[in-house]
Amino acid sequence: MTSSQPTNLVPAMESIAREAGSLVMSYFHQRVNIEYKGDADLVTVADRKSEALILERIRQQFPTHDVMGEEGARIDSGGDYKWYVDPLDGTTNFAHGFPVFCISLAVECRGQRAAGVVYDPTREEMFTAELGKGARLNGQTIHVSTTSRLAECLVGTGFPSHKRHKSPNIYFYHQITLRTHGVRRAGSAALDLCNVACGRFDAFWEFNLNPWDTAAGVLIADEAGGRVTNFSGGPFQLDSRETLASNGLVHEALIHEFQEIFAGRGLEELPSPVEYAKDRAT
Ligand code: IPD
Ligand code: CA
Ligand code: CA
Repeated sequence: MTSSQPTNLVPAMESIAREAGSLVMSYFHQRVNIEYKGDADLVTVADRKSEALILERIRQQFPTHDVMGEEGARIDSGGDYKWYVDPLDGTTNFAHGFPVFCISLAVECRGQRAAGVVYDPTREEMFTAELGKGARLNGQTIHVSTTSRLAECLVGTGFPSHKRHKSPNIYFYHQITLRTHGVRRAGSAALDLCNVACGRFDAFWEFNLNPWDTAAGVLIADEAGGRVTNFSGGPFQLDSRETLASNGLVHEALIHEFQEIFAGRGLEELPSPVEYAKDRAT
């Protein structure tokens, strides 16, 4: 282990994320070929080069730290520190020229989330958090929103790129849309969690995220005063496959709605397109 303690990690993480952000932006301006990891699971040269750069920096600066990166980076020595790396979160957006994506880095110390950094290079927004020390956006302390009525919330969600036809999330999207100001599918789970942290979203949920998507954003949302659990209100685990983050005030209301949806109660029926076409003039 190096002499770095968890509290010293954020500046180094910020600098690595900024460097990876510049690299990703250089590809964004060129437009790159899309390759496929699955039928709608995209990857580009920018994802791979960003992960290679991040891995090299971790090896140079923290040679005893373990790493799990989305594009395959693995160092697994059983040491105290472990990095979760999403070298480009929002690849589908990136590949289509839609400017919503980020670099997400988290460090766990002996199994506990210790530090997280999410960098949006399109807006030059750096979200950071250290365990017990609050969350920041470009150095300024951030807090979750104070909205207490679900009906007045703006909420985020996301849909999986694997086994899409098996996801029930469209029912959740439909119901929560009807019960709030709206639901956004912006396309980067790490940024969605940061948007909860800084009060732009009042809540966010998604099924089946991976540890590299959530590790940094969950710490940032927690440290900004938010609450992050599974869909039943139980503790969030990196491998739990259910992520529900909120400002805390609307958490129970969302858990209640989720229980109703899972049980098939109170579902508003989706109109058939044919019926809707008949009605649309009225
Ligand atoms: C994806 C994004 C997206 C979420 C997907 C993730 P990627 O990550 O975070 O918002 O809905 O579930 O896989 O593939 O762009 O790193
Ligand atoms: Ca991701
Ligand atoms: Ca990714």
